[in-house]
Amino acid sequence: MSIQKILVTGGTGYIGSHTIIELQNKGFEVVIIDSLRNSYQQVIQQIEKISGKKPSFYNIDLCDKASLFNFFEKEKNIEAVIHFAALKAVGESVENPLLYYNNNMLSLLNLVEGMSKYQIPYLVFSSSCTVYGQPDMLPVSETAPLKKPESPYGHTKQMAEQILTDVTHAMPINVISLRYFNPIGAHDTALIGEYPMGVPNNLVPMITQTAVGIREKLLVYGNDYNTKDGSCVRDYIHVVDIAKAHVISIERLLNKKHKKAYEVFNLGTGTGFTVLETIQTFEKVSQVKLTYEITGRRSGDVEKVYADTKLANEELGWKAERDLENMLSTAWQWQLQLKENNILI
Ligand code: NAD
Ligand code: WQD
Repeated sequence: MSIQKILVTGGTGYIGSHTIIELQNKGFEVVIIDSLRNSYQQVIQQIEKISGKKPSFYNIDLCDKASLFNFFEKEKNIEAVIHFAALKAVGESVENPLLYYNNNMLSLLNLVEGMSKYQIPYLVFSSSCTVYGQPDMLPVSETAPLKKPESPYGHTKQMAEQILTDVTHAMPINVISLRYFNPIGAHDTALIGEYPMGVPNNLVPMITQTAVGIREKLLVYGNDYNTKDGSCVRDYIHVVDIAKAHVISIERLLNKKHKKAYEVFNLGTGTGFTVLETIQTFEKVSQVKLTYEITGRRSGDVEKVYADTKLANEELGWKAERDLENMLSTAWQWQLQLKENNILI
């Protein structure tokens, strides 16, 4: 069988880069589109160091329809698309909603129009547990009602899922939406990982940057929630486990194993950890005492959320393999590697 070519949008980003390695390991050829709005082109050399294979790269903003369609004219025989490209900073989306609605919706609409025009029938889409808001029942399953999202970012994910559902009813396009819980960790080689620009919003980059001395202290947002120690509960999931789920989803579509034109799966471990437990686990694996301080709640945070993983386990045939210790130790090794190489973030 000839080598199958997959378009990965947002492929120089955090989850995209890890997914490319897993795709290459399974023999797929990868072509990346990324605007480099939130990532660096050097990631491509790092991918090549890990896999020995260099993906093709196009510096295109998906909102630029003409450039995207030129790309499709040039790169023939794309069999399927994984669409990671989006802006993802919740706080920034509250401050600049138009940026988020423009970027995340226009890029999706152009991509789907292009897929229809150039007859590419399969799409895997990056959705998020943010679509559930604070669920009424935990663990939260894919059939839970979607609550009003707390941010424009969250709205873009709900809207994208609606658009894709409608598209699959009207066009010969099949979609798997993967709702990630909290992706953390880095590749075992420490050659790729999460690379936040500016002050991180998310917990784990904030922990590792504090531990390495870039930040003075970590602020823990609230210890008065209705949880075992009062801090919020999340379902942290290793980025390599997430990456593997994308390869399984692509194979499911290419092998026509999907049961519906639009399918959705949760990607989590199914276990929730509090912020304080996460800090303790980090201290254990890194042997570093973390400076942190409890402060007030962060607006928009849900108290607790973790995934019902039954559908992903049984129907997709995927299960998270790595535990919180592995997630935090790989994140730590990545942070140390950045320090050793004087890469300041
Ligand atoms: P990331 O920012 O590291 O990667 C996204 C990439 O998309 C970046 O390289 C960015 O430059 C690119 N991009 C953004 N807009 C673009 C455009 N218009 N055209 C071309 N490229 C564009 O983010 P990530 O953490 O790898 O997230 C990937 C996807 O997963 C996103 O859709 C995000 O919303 C979703 N997601 C992420 C998380 C998380 O916590 N990291 C959780 C749930 C869902
Ligand atoms: C985790 C916990 C914070 C930073 C976000 C998006 C969500 C999804 C995943 C994309 C919370 C606490 C954090 C800090 C802290 N992304 N925290 N101090 O908020 O669960 O989810 O990323 O789709 O949409 O909202 O992740 O890592 O920001 O926070 O105490 O400095 O850590 O309050 O309880 P979150 P997070």
